[in-house]
Amino acid sequence: MLRVALLGAGRIGQVHARSITESGEAELAWVCDPVETAASTLAGRYGAKWSPEPGDAIEDASVDAVLIASATATHTDLIRASVLAGRKVLCEKPIDLDMARIDACWADIAGKAPFVMLGFNRRFDPTFREVNERVKAGEIGPIRALRVTSRDPQPPPGAYLAVSGGMFRDMTIHDFDMARFFLGQIVEVSAVASHNNDPVFVAAGDHAQAIVTMRNTDGALCTIVNSRSCAYGYDQRLEAFGDLGSLEAGNLTATAVRAFNAKETEAAGPVLNFFLERYLPAYKAEFAEFLAAIREDREPSVGFADGRAALVLAEAAIESVATGRVVPVTGG
Ligand SMILES: NC(=O)c1ccc[n+]([C@@H]2O[C@H](COP(=O)([O-])OP(=O)(O)OC[C@H]3O[C@@H](n4cnc5c(N)ncnc54)[C@H](O)[C@@H]3O)[C@@H](O)[C@H]2O)c1
Repeated sequence: MLRVALLGAGRIGQVHARSITESGEAELAWVCDPVETAASTLAGRYGAKWSPEPGDAIEDASVDAVLIASATATHTDLIRASVLAGRKVLCEKPIDLDMARIDACWADIAGKAPFVMLGFNRRFDPTFREVNERVKAGEIGPIRALRVTSRDPQPPPGAYLAVSGGMFRDMTIHDFDMARFFLGQIVEVSAVASHNNDPVFVAAGDHAQAIVTMRNTDGALCTIVNSRSCAYGYDQRLEAFGDLGSLEAGNLTATAVRAFNAKETEAAGPVLNFFLERYLPAYKAEFAEFLAAIREDREPSVGFADGRAALVLAEAAIESVATGRVVPVTGG
């Protein structure tokens, strides 16, 4: 059994605790969180040790791997400490909000054969993954365009917005990674955004809506459509379009049953509420890939460089909104 220390017992930490304990190949050895009740409650649920201090778990020689699900600002320090202690790492997105801190972290760990997987869970969503595999198998011929729709059901609180790094670094970062998953290297980014005249977004200097267009090295195009709120729930769809057709992954509902009556046809129940429901199978599959890469002694399918590249695209989108120009990128 792989002994895993979980750092961060918040929303996503609780999901990962479940994936670890239900995997059958790993055990939750530690839960660390400065909020002691959060750490002790989650640890108690699974019979793990707990501490407010992540170093207690990272330095425990019986720990094989560290899953970093703490606040974003702590990620690079915890990656560095974990790799230098010889642990395998699965870290939540984004690596950091600041490129200089990401590069400084990599400079410190690069010589230590680091095993760092990034938590871009959407790559492991069964429907998106199927579309990706079928595109790569040639079903739609050369891919010409990717359309990603990603709308949250409601915006995060103003306090979160203030420290989130903004929509592109915090939210669109998943979609930038999805673009790279399908299209490989991106060379050009253009973006427009709006705060909807909503005082919450105005005060945070952030956006309520954004549309990003990108181009890859082969000239294939990508459109990302984001919104911080959506009346019908968590809108997560994509379409890959190629010379021989298109492949589309739609929203998921709790049941496949559809109602037909005098007012409507094909009426479905609401879409799955938010990421904890919509991507539960993806989080499990992500952890399964972490275990498989360790077992097979290979690189994880999504790593530190992918986390950095997604931030390169986020920075380019921010520059494009500020300047109104198309921004050429390298390293995306
Ligand atoms: N992949 C996804 O779908 C997804 C979804 C949500 C959040 N996230 C990412 O996961 C991270 C956590 O987000 P969340 O929504 O769970 O936040 P959260 O606020 O619910 O939980 C974060 C927890 O980290 C703890 N923490 C802070 N500093 C710590 C430290 N040094 N060591 C250990 N724990 C520490 C906090 O006390 C808090 O309990 C963020 O980086 C976020 O971007 C990813």
